[in-house]
Amino acid sequence: MYIRRAELKDSESILEWRNDPVTRTMSISQDAILKESHDRWYASALSNPRHQIFIAEVDGKAIGMCRLNVSGETAEVSINICPSCRGSGVGTKFLDLVIKQTNFGRYVAQIKAENLASIRTFESLGFKRKGEENGLLIYEANGSTSLGLDQD
Ligand SMILES: CC(C)(COP(=O)(O)OP(=O)(O)OC[C@H]1O[C@@H](n2cnc3c(N)ncnc32)[C@H](O)[C@@H]1OP(=O)(O)O)[C@@H](O)C(=O)NCCC(=O)NCCS
Repeated sequence: MYIRRAELKDSESILEWRNDPVTRTMSISQDAILKESHDRWYASALSNPRHQIFIAEVDGKAIGMCRLNVSGETAEVSINICPSCRGSGVGTKFLDLVIKQTNFGRYVAQIKAENLASIRTFESLGFKRKGEENGLLIYEANGSTSLGLDQD
């Protein structure tokens, strides 16, 4: 797996993965996102230093995105894997690589209680449940969290 920063060319894939039914169910807002609104948001996100968006590639093909919303030393994580690629370990490996290649003091995630795949992914990387806010579980890890997976 190779990870790189997101570019404009990734816009369509990111929207497609976001509008997948499972992703919508697991998102805070379950509405489908319209292309015009996504294009506006994505262009501004790419130029916003508080957003760091990463793409994972396998065999040259983009298979997922991970966004860090940065506030000081804290990065809030959002991750979405291409629907046909889920459940084969890529989400865990991708998140591990993003954490290894960034340098924040604290990583946090808000996860729906029914999102078992996400909970397992974050827990296996050392994230701990810190509480619950607005019906979402809050998971946190410090910057030294890592599975120790290989980077290839
Ligand atoms: C959550 C997500 C990123 C996980 O990535 P993934 O590649 O599917 O997950 P992995 O294959 O790395 O599996 C991680 C763990 O979840 C478990 N898992 C995977 N799919 C599962 C499912 N459908 N139900 C329950 N557990 C599941 C795996 O067994 C593994 O657990 P283990 O470490 O105990 O073996 C991915 O499923 C996804 O993009 N989901 C839709 C968007 C989303 O929910 N994003 C997170 C919002 S907080």
